[in-house]
Amino acid sequence: MPVTPVAKTDNQPLHLSRVARSTPGIELTIIVPTFNERDNVEPLIERLGAVLKDVEWEVVYVDDDSPDGTAAKIREVSRWNSRVRCVQRIGRRGLSTAVIEGMLASSAPYLAVIDADLQHDETLLPRMLDTLKAQSLDVVVATRYGDGGGIGDWNRRRAALSNAATWLARSVVAAELTDPMSGFFVMTRPAFEQAVRRLSGQGFKILLDLFASTPTPYRFAEVPYTFRNRSRGESKLDSLALWEYLMLLVDKLAGRWVPVRFVLFAAVGAGGLVVHLLTLRIALMGVSFPIAQTIATVTAMTSNFVVNNAFTYRDRRLHGMRFLTGLLSFFAICSIGAVANVRLASAVFERNYAWWISGLAGAAASVVWNYAVTSVFTWRGR
Ligand code: GDD
Ligand code: MN
Repeated sequence: MPVTPVAKTDNQPLHLSRVARSTPGIELTIIVPTFNERDNVEPLIERLGAVLKDVEWEVVYVDDDSPDGTAAKIREVSRWNSRVRCVQRIGRRGLSTAVIEGMLASSAPYLAVIDADLQHDETLLPRMLDTLKAQSLDVVVATRYGDGGGIGDWNRRRAALSNAATWLARSVVAAELTDPMSGFFVMTRPAFEQAVRRLSGQGFKILLDLFASTPTPYRFAEVPYTFRNRSRGESKLDSLALWEYLMLLVDKLAGRWVPVRFVLFAAVGAGGLVVHLLTLRIALMGVSFPIAQTIATVTAMTSNFVVNNAFTYRDRRLHGMRFLTGLLSFFAICSIGAVANVRLASAVFERNYAWWISGLAGAAASVVWNYAVTSVFTWRGR
């Protein structure tokens, strides 16, 4: 019998329904972001298999080309276990984007996220999924701070940092989440899809990002658990992660109007003004005004460059030789900005505007120019 293509008259084309019936679909995809977690791959899959008995599940690892060979390890396991998949990303890093892309690689109606390092209590997964379905919620979050939860033996500094971050998070999400930093949750696909195009993807706070981006508030529940200690590999959440977290907050607060980096860049510029005036005051004690002004200008530009390199562009930080060439390009670009600033301010002033309006107009023009051009030439991304 010849194979008939999709029958357009039928609601359910014949060969499609056959395909649909051939194997059961996956109901739950567990997304696991990894960076250098080779030795945690097998133990986690084993544990997932032990607790997920009544559900068709798969695990999608999203690995950022870990140098320790995590991806190869995952593929090795998946040759014997078809529930295991690996998405490997090359030349990119980022916990949030890894989770987003893992979710996009899944077709399942339910999506879970869990760390690779066994710090999250995977035995909660069946209960989280049941709660999600039974109460028809959008998200079920495992929390370290609810009654019955805990953070394991974290040191005081880490606990305090986490508390501060949680408190800050409340400024961008209205939902009363006790643990908006949690990296362990289950959600429905529609809940993910309604937010996906608005996500910031910055940093490692994917749950916070989801809650801050959804157009309609999520219905959610929380399940307490105790954060385990890591036995293999090491934590990746460093000062860069903290910085990215602050960027996410600024983005969620002001990102609708202006890019986060611009806000930081302008703030650094304002700080540079203070440096400039202080240097000018000190230099005037020894040299003439034009020389003092030149010294102050160079000092302020250099300090702006150093601060922008350390904070505004922390993720593209320049080191060594590239630090020097970056500094030179920054000087050149800002000099053009300064000339434009003076020209524009003078033109405005000639039209009989107040001195401070003229001054502000010039300053605004140069900060926009400096920001736009240095982002392309000085700190170009890769
Ligand atoms: N793909 C990818 N890319 N995965 C990453 C990256 C990355 O750049 N950075 C970290 N991961 C993976 C790790 O391999 C691990 O599976 C998971 O993300 C969490 O990273 P850890 O380095 O173990 O983080 P943690 O234990 O310090 O932080 C935990 O607590 C935070 C709250 O303070 C995590 O549960 C976080 O999600 C949570 O926000
Ligand atoms: Mn961890």
